[in-house]
Amino acid sequence: MRIGLIKVKLEITQNISMHPLLKLEIAKSDDKLNNFKHMKQQASLLSIMNQFHFLQNGSCFVEFGAGKGQLMYWIIRCVPESEKKSFILIDKSAQRHKSDNKFKDSDLQVERIRIDIQHLFLGKVPSIQDKIDKVVGVSKHLCGGATDLAIKCLINSLISERNGEKVKHKICGLLMALCCHHQCSWDTYIGKDFLEKHNFTERDFKLMCCIASWATCGLRKTVLEKNDTVYSEENATDEGDENLKKNESVKNNSTINSEEHAEDIPDEILLNRYNKLNLKHEEREVIGLQCKRLIDAGRIFFLKEAGYDAKLTTYIDKSVSLENVALLVTCKES
Ligand SMILES: C[S@@+](CC[C@H](N)C(=O)[O-])C[C@H]1O[C@@H](n2cnc3c(N)ncnc32)[C@H](O)[C@@H]1O
Repeated sequence: MRIGLIKVKLEITQNISMHPLLKLEIAKSDDKLNNFKHMKQQASLLSIMNQFHFLQNGSCFVEFGAGKGQLMYWIIRCVPESEKKSFILIDKSAQRHKSDNKFKDSDLQVERIRIDIQHLFLGKVPSIQDKIDKVVGVSKHLCGGATDLAIKCLINSLISERNGEKVKHKICGLLMALCCHHQCSWDTYIGKDFLEKHNFTERDFKLMCCIASWATCGLRKTVLEKNDTVYSEENATDEGDENLKKNESVKNNSTINSEEHAEDIPDEILLNRYNKLNLKHEEREVIGLQCKRLIDAGRIFFLKEAGYDAKLTTYIDKSVSLENVALLVTCKES
């Protein structure tokens, strides 16, 4: 694999802030539900959307992989009254305790569509048709390949028919909190042209995806490198906590931090693998991050080719989430 040999200039800006409404909410909550780590991420994503005027244009918001709809809940709350138009939540799974239920009795157009993104054609969604020029896409922790599917869906399926002719529309903006690059697949990946341009093969890509998990695959650090710093359990995420409970051998040994969607590989196997590689945790993390960014560079290339400005931005501190980079897409100034 030639990861060390290519030089890709990929600027990552830093934009960690809080939308005032969420800031206020966080200040007055007592975090019984351990929601702060999610709310802080939502607060920063909303703040970025505000800065780039995504909230002020009477947009039609489409959230991909909405889960319980918490991000969309805050989008709806943060859009000024006169600009609230249409809010569409996409998820392939059935969800309980959905935040969008809170708007059931309102006059707002809030719609949930249960579909796999790969089958979604936005131009055919009736509620989008009269707002097809006003679409803003969002996602938070939409794992790996589903992020590519969502980008493809936004770029290729905003098509309307006027006087018998098909018209392709551009999105107004897109903000995606990225995650789980190790779950990307060659079939769905949108950055193939970029990688192939740099002589990477499908096999290299698969390796890259595996290695990407080093950036977030939990620390197990206290098990692997006993003398290193212990990461705080406070930062462990819900699913990380679950993994922690499952893993008796680790439970008795140490504190652990695992990211939301980290690979669920037993620590003994990881230990064996990493020992063979003779790489320190810090080295693995850096290499893992480089793979994630290389995968993102392909996505940015795809979006630029499609006529957009696209960049990466760190939207939250890594103590809140190890998956702390978002992809921000805006229309090119003409
Ligand atoms: C990790 S959860 C994130 C949920 C929510 N956005 C959040 O931040 O809490 C990922 C969500 O994406 C949905 N998802 C994953 N792949 C999908 C696909 N191909 N089509 C539709 N939904 C998908 C899953 O069902 C799940 O609800």
